Amino acid sequence: MKTVLITGATSGIGFELFKIFSNEKYYVIGIGRNKQRIKKTLNSINKNRENLQSFYLCNFEKLEDIKKVFNKISKEVNSIDILINNAGGIFVNNKLTKNNIERTFQVNYLSHFLLTEILLKNKILNSKAHILNVSSKVHGRGEINLDDINNLQNYNAVKSYAQSKVSQIMWGYCLLEKHKEIYINSVHPGIIGTRLLSNNGFISPILVFFHKIYGKNAKYGAKNVFEVLKHVLKNNINGKYFNERNEEKSSDYSYNKIIQEKLLQISKKLVKDNLE
Ligand SMILES: NC(=O)c1ccc[n+]([C@@H]2O[C@H](COP(=O)([O-])OP(=O)(O)OC[C@H]3O[C@@H](n4cnc5c(N)ncnc54)[C@H](OP(=O)(O)O)[C@@H]3O)[C@@H](O)[C@H]2O)c1
Repeated sequence: MKTVLITGATSGIGFELFKIFSNEKYYVIGIGRNKQRIKKTLNSINKNRENLQSFYLCNFEKLEDIKKVFNKISKEVNSIDILINNAGGIFVNNKLTKNNIERTFQVNYLSHFLLTEILLKNKILNSKAHILNVSSKVHGRGEINLDDINNLQNYNAVKSYAQSKVSQIMWGYCLLEKHKEIYINSVHPGIIGTRLLSNNGFISPILVFFHKIYGKNAKYGAKNVFEVLKHVLKNNINGKYFNERNEEKSSDYSYNKIIQEKLLQISKKLVKDNLE
């Protein structure tokens, strides 16, 4: 039986993915940051399959949590076949985490970078493992602000979100070069009405309301991600970007190898203390 690890599995696309994988022949491990929502997710699983999941608490705003969650997961399983880097958010206000890193960059990208690096380093992601980064079409507006990665000057939520999403894709392309034995692809799940904008204080309900009116439902987004995964698994596809279920080129910017390498160096430096 294959093992899949899904981050951000307590809401929206991740929650639906957790259910889809739980109904298939997979052992499913979820990561969430909220105990109640973890409980709710586990309660939503078909009772016949309820011994085939586990869930771990981890806040991606804390780099220290990543190593801790890895230590727990690696006591439970010695190999993971599929990693879905899905947790994320859009943050209207600029906030630095305790690690002194802008929240969007850390939650959406850097914590996943760290988690994946630790899994690879410890060979828990086995050879031929598949990594799928849930990125976004918005990556097309993203550039890496190499001089001010935290976007402290003139913070703009869309710009920071786009930077985090293009970072996922560019790091994926880098990883491909360095780990020939694994597969890594990215997907835009569609415009999906979820709680993605729910971390924004008193205006959250309004933002979530309009996002839900405009977007399709979470099942639709999860099905897109699941179908892309089935396709890349079946056809051994590597290093591609999918817009919903269609393979497309990612932004021209994302293929820039010099910036990819600079992003890699910045990322390694930022996680250095938590990688050992
Ligand atoms: N919805 C869209 O239109 C859309 C479009 C393109 C790409 N995406 C991408 O799809 C992915 C899933 O988003 P979604 O739309 O399903 O949103 P969502 O419903 O808000 O789900 C996001 C998940 O990430 C978790 N998360 C957020 N901050 C976290 C943190 N600090 N530590 C750990 N977990 C954290 C959330 O936990 P809680 O349940 O505790 O909040 C939740 O489980 C994201 O990467 C997003 O960028 C979404």
